[in-house]
Amino acid sequence: MKEQSIGFLDSGLGGLSVVKEVKKLLPRENIEYFADNQRQPYGEKNQDELTDYTLQIISFFIKKKIKICVIACNTATAASLKKAREFFSIPIIGVIRPAVQDAIKKTSNKRIGVIATEFTTKNEAYPKEIKRIAPKIKVFSNFCPEFVSIVEAGKFTAPKTYEVARKYLKPLKDSQIDTLILGCTHYSFLKRAISDIMGSGVILVDPSVSTSLTLKEVIIQKGILKEEGKGEENYYTTGSPEKVEKTAKIILNGDNFKIQKVKLEELEQNI
Ligand code: DGL
Repeated sequence: MKEQSIGFLDSGLGGLSVVKEVKKLLPRENIEYFADNQRQPYGEKNQDELTDYTLQIISFFIKKKIKICVIACNTATAASLKKAREFFSIPIIGVIRPAVQDAIKKTSNKRIGVIATEFTTKNEAYPKEIKRIAPKIKVFSNFCPEFVSIVEAGKFTAPKTYEVARKYLKPLKDSQIDTLILGCTHYSFLKRAISDIMGSGVILVDPSVSTSLTLKEVIIQKGILKEEGKGEENYYTTGSPEKVEKTAKIILNGDNFKIQKVKLEELEQNI
């Protein structure tokens, strides 16, 4: 069991922000990563579609015998974490609760901002979770649709990225938040631009950090920590491997990064 992998899924490369943190914390663990690029953006899909995609990818992972799964995508977490936990018997971790707990600890003025995809924003996944734990906190949200394609193209600090970010962040700057949750795993790679625009008075909360700490706790608590050897990594995409590899190499600083193509038909027959 300990030798089995951790499965990570996202609509694309955003979940690599979680993988990067996990590799620092748990370097011996084997990793399976699934990027569903062909069906991206998840932020524009509905609840049923997102649930189907998540269950299909976890079923794919189950065949690879993973020991635990991280839904390294806020949109898929908001839409389908509950269903996925009902459906599968392995432990499944989402990114929203860890990020909320972290943000509540960090805010002093009790005004938290959330930027996320359209689905996560309209579903009110973050405000609901924050209100559940700390009802007095005020939450301000905005969705940033163009950020996902900007990240997939690796344009993390391009002038156009700053221009787009200024537009999305304006209402949040005006609402005097002191803490901003990056409620989409892709946005982690835009931290520099977001922080330049928001200024040093706003703390950025990146779910990848709190999620990897939660993952470590759960792995230790379940007694499934891999204690020996070097971690191995396998990456899969439903999109174009060449395109995905280009940006993934920048993110992971790895020249030998390889990603395998998985056809949608193969996934769809899983559920
Ligand atoms: N990275 C994803 C998230 O955390 C989804 C991005 C998308 O495909 O819209 O929400």
